[in-house]
Amino acid sequence: MAKPSRTVLLAAAAKARKGAVAPYSNFKVGAALLTKRGEIITGANVESASYGLTCCAERVALFKALTGGAGDFAAIAVVARAPGGPMPCGACRQLLAEYAAHAKVWVADSRALKQVSEFTVSDLLPKPFATVPRQEE
Ligand code: THU
Repeated sequence: MAKPSRTVLLAAAAKARKGAVAPYSNFKVGAALLTKRGEIITGANVESASYGLTCCAERVALFKALTGGAGDFAAIAVVARAPGGPMPCGACRQLLAEYAAHAKVWVADSRALKQVSEFTVSDLLPKPFATVPRQEE
């Protein structure tokens, strides 16, 4: 099976965006992860009346992928109606650094899916938090 292209991944993120549950901000975001095996796992943002409980599209996709047994991510596409595309928030950057450190990050405006910006996870979060080995006091 041919590996899905960047165009296919962005289209998957745009489709996933339609599943966003964003009644408070009305800002709908879709994300699609590509594994090195060629699988695509998507997600969209889900908001809560207790706003801080909201979960971004990137994390929904990542949690779905990880709990479904996927790993070894090659790329993530993120799409929203935002000039230049939506930049992942700090929390998502941390999770990407932990679980998709070598993935390419492609972002695009949902109205211009061919205009893609590409980042590495370390461009976005050069010094992620990492736990240190337990030390004797
Ligand atoms: N959001 C995402 O889903 N991903 C991002 O990269 C940034 C923000 C969501 C969270 C919230 O539902 C809405 O966008 C407005 O912040």
